[in-house]
Amino acid sequence: MRRLVLVGTAAAMALCMQAAAAQAVHPDGATLFHQSGCMQCHRLAGAGGDRGPDLSDIGKRRSKKEIRSQVVGGGGGMPAFGGVLPEADIEALVRYLQHCRKKPSAPMGSAATEAR
Ligand code: HEC
Repeated sequence: MRRLVLVGTAAAMALCMQAAAAQAVHPDGATLFHQSGCMQCHRLAGAGGDRGPDLSDIGKRRSKKEIRSQVVGGGGGMPAFGGVLPEADIEALVRYLQHCRKKPSAPMGSAATEAR
C-alpha cells in the first residue's frame, strides 16, 4: 500500500482542494460535495455529518471505480445518486474524492492515516 506522508493539517487540506481544482472540473468537486448533500452524512476535511464514513482519506482507501459505484448506486444507508445528479457532476465528485487522501485530524507524523 502506498503511504502518503504529508506535512501537517493545512498542507493536507490544501492538497485535497488544489488537486481537484487543478483539474478544472465543472463545477468543482468540493462545491458539489456541499451542494449535493453529501456533507449531511459525510465528514470531509474536518466538517460534515456522521451518518456515513469520513471521506477525508477516501482516495487512499478506495479506487476511483469503487467510489463511483458507491455514489451512483448508493447502498448501506446511502441514497443512489445515479440518475439524480448529472453525469458530469458525478465525475467531478469522484475525481475530487480520489484526491482526498488524508484525514486532517490525524496527529502529525503518526501512522494514524493508515489505521482505518
Ligand atoms: C443519507 C446519508 C448519505 C448521503 C446524503 C450521502 N452518503 Fe455516502 N455514504 C453513506 C453511508 C451510510 C455510507 C456507508 C455505506 C456502506 O458502508 O455500505 C456511505 C458511503 C459512501 C462512500 C464509500 C465510503 C467508504 O468508506 O467506502 C462514498 C465514496 C460516498 N458515500 C460518497 C458520497 C457522496 C459523493 C455523496 C453525495 C453525492 C454521498 N456519499 C451522500 C451515507 C450518505
